[in-house]
Amino acid sequence: MWNRVEATARGVFARYGFGEIRTPIFETTELFARGVGEETDIVSKEMYTWEDRGRAESDKGQSLTLRPENTAGVVRAYIEHGLADTGMLQKLFYIGPQFRRERPQRGRYRQFWQIGAEVLGPAWSGSDSALRDAEVLEMLATFLDELGVKGWRLALNSVGSSEDRPRYVAALREALAPVKGSMCENCQRRAETNPLRVLDCKEPQDQARIDALPKIADYLDEASQEHFAQVKAALDACGVSYVVEPRLVRGLDYYTRTTFEFTVPDGSGLGTQNALLGGGRYDGLSEMLGGPKAPGIGFAIGEDRLILTLQAQAKEAAEDKLDAFIAPMGVARNAEALKLAQELRRAGLSVEVGEGAFRLKKSFEAADKLARRMVILGEDEVASGILTVKDFAAGEQTKVPRSELAEALRR
Ligand code: HAM
Repeated sequence: MWNRVEATARGVFARYGFGEIRTPIFETTELFARGVGEETDIVSKEMYTWEDRGRAESDKGQSLTLRPENTAGVVRAYIEHGLADTGMLQKLFYIGPQFRRERPQRGRYRQFWQIGAEVLGPAWSGSDSALRDAEVLEMLATFLDELGVKGWRLALNSVGSSEDRPRYVAALREALAPVKGSMCENCQRRAETNPLRVLDCKEPQDQARIDALPKIADYLDEASQEHFAQVKAALDACGVSYVVEPRLVRGLDYYTRTTFEFTVPDGSGLGTQNALLGGGRYDGLSEMLGGPKAPGIGFAIGEDRLILTLQAQAKEAAEDKLDAFIAPMGVARNAEALKLAQELRRAGLSVEVGEGAFRLKKSFEAADKLARRMVILGEDEVASGILTVKDFAAGEQTKVPRSELAEALRR
């Protein structure tokens, strides 16, 4: 599965002109503090950081960190290796482990794998075009479809430019001031330190208050509105479906304008961790790390989560059950059972026939494994023409006239 996912990623990304970049697993702590943002959960709580001692007495130690994400590392490499000097748009992907101090659970690990990509370059290379956002999103939709991921949902938002955001944050602060006292502890703290993160709160009792807060869409300037409209128009043109979610701000500080997340439906094997991948546009990250202006957009797929999803969906598909299992009560009913199966199969239903020598319990077990319903065919049923149908999902047993049986099994 891991190989298939990675081979598909490599194949799809190559068609969109991406090349692979390999960055170090650990970097200086400062890179993430500056790149990801001191106030984010990742930097404030989740990094594995240690003080490295120098090689000689005279060397000062250095603070190093296992990478919690790879956008900062890619942008650092972009600056350090002079990729900006080429003047060309850079399309770079990576596959590798990331590390965050988490409470491990299904779909959430301390060491996990990401497949990610970044598109960046000087503005004149087209790196800040809405076309790039839509291209990246369309590529992700193609990737998930080629892998056969079912039911994915793309949530999309614009968090505005670096000018829009402070205006919105000020409005949020103002709206939160009178209500924050009655919100959860996290919200109270975030209302002070990072009001945008209040929008991420999952506490049920806070939801009504959060829904009533100002929406970022009302604070976008004309250029940001135009950018977002162009992203949506290009996605529409490509037939990529999305849902605009005004509360999607995401937990990293570097985002500007387009942000997005792909999720899978409940029951796809991830429990509550249903975000398969996330990303967005950034502007100012390169400058923050000491480089030239280089707007960009990128994403990271949680590879562990993607694989859990594919495994769960494959299992579900294998569990595609037959419409009915016919259980003859006694060998004397076998021929009648086969005739009933013939009738139902000709009516287009998928049917398995048991064996009259089976005890009822054995028929039940076999039927439950193979089919959605079991049809009991005993002496009474043959005589009366009224059959007993057991529906396993509903846990019900009903009597159905033979003439209505095919219809009842189709439901
Ligand atoms: P992120 O949302 O922090 O974004 O992570 C992206 C994806 O990595 C998540 O949607 C999730 O699937 C997976 N993930 C995160 N934490 C864990 C974990 N502890 N265990 C398993 N999977 C996890 C970023 O990392 C950004 N660098 C994405 C990006 C690239 N934005 C712009 N460019």
